[in-house]
Amino acid sequence: MASRVSGRSHLSHLECSACGATVPADEVAGTCPACGKVLFSRYDLPSLRSEMPVPDFAGRPQTLWRYRELLPIRDERFALTLGEGRTPLIALGARSRRAAGLDGVELLVKEEGLNPTGSFKARGLAVAVARAAELGVRHVALPSAGNAGGAAAAYAAMHGIACHVAMPRDAPIINQQEVALYGAELILVDGLIDAAGRLIRERAADEGWFDLSTLKEPYRAEGKKTMGIELAEDGGWGDAWCPDVVVYPTGGGTGIVGMWKAWAELEELGWIGSRRPRMVVVQADGCAPIVRAFDAGADRAEPWEGGRTIASGMRVPAAIGDYLILRAVHESGGTAVAVSDGEISEAQRQLARTSGIWAAPEGAATFAALGHLRDSGFLGGGEQIVLFNTGTGSKYAPPIE
Ligand SMILES: Cc1ncc(COP(=O)(O)O)c(C=O)c1O
Repeated sequence: MASRVSGRSHLSHLECSACGATVPADEVAGTCPACGKVLFSRYDLPSLRSEMPVPDFAGRPQTLWRYRELLPIRDERFALTLGEGRTPLIALGARSRRAAGLDGVELLVKEEGLNPTGSFKARGLAVAVARAAELGVRHVALPSAGNAGGAAAAYAAMHGIACHVAMPRDAPIINQQEVALYGAELILVDGLIDAAGRLIRERAADEGWFDLSTLKEPYRAEGKKTMGIELAEDGGWGDAWCPDVVVYPTGGGTGIVGMWKAWAELEELGWIGSRRPRMVVVQADGCAPIVRAFDAGADRAEPWEGGRTIASGMRVPAAIGDYLILRAVHESGGTAVAVSDGEISEAQRQLARTSGIWAAPEGAATFAALGHLRDSGFLGGGEQIVLFNTGTGSKYAPPIE
């Protein structure tokens, strides 16, 4: 059953995050028509601020649609839900802290594996597919490292529109099977997500499909930004909400970009203050373009050749939103860390055995990064740290010793 939510979207227009060009919001849009960069959704925040001077979501559903005012769907009939969002923050105990080699910190896991289709991709695709359907799109298409394809296929099935997913041939088998199960077209490609992206671009142009690639349309980031709104709500808004550090497994980077955008909107609304967590990008050392760019002090990332890692969601050799990811890391005083596949598997086992959480390899990478952050002196002790487990480990083959 579709949930009914009070409030209306305050979406006003789209704006290029690079050149500032503005675009009408109620037409189908991809990237900036002037410069090809990422379009952001903009909202009439002054009017929302006067309607809701303090955040008040009491009585709203426990899904991301509770934040309807800050989401782009205008017609409630398109705000369909499979139960995405409002995931728990799970406190890790002393055994997990010891396994991470960090006694004096507070570790919390934002457990995104509990989302429909088992990953945080449900958030972005719940919103992007809903908005596409609202704007009259009948065919959506996307390249995927795995989980985004499954989520897109599920929400397309829910909205009754066609979905076409291109995925690396060696993407996790469950991701391939779920796309087919939900009735979407599965196209397997030799190569990584960039090769899948090229194929989707060609087919979309030929066949009139709408391209839902990461940050190549404005609305997946809006779904992902709800992770940031939830952290603020769970922390009690104001200035108190803010964890010291957020550790985030990064591929295309929609999550980090979305959260950074969310907190700017919440501050403009007066719902939170100016404090921000230090944002830590984690990548696998076999595919780490953002880490390499951060280390070089660059504000753009060069494509990574021949990316390899068991954390398939992080096998993203080039990200259109590289400048936005790096900006969030720099502005927050954060950092970027690469971890090996061996460290990821070990972290997955340690986290499972000390906490009961079976993290996806991407989520486990955040746990693996903690030792690096301690050794480099980035963590001094006493911090409150939020790790994002972006997916359930049960969609991947488990690490067997
Ligand atoms: C479980 C998981 N974590 C992290 C990522 C990386 O996400 P993003 O591309 O939004 O940075 C992915 C992408 O496929 C994923 O599936």
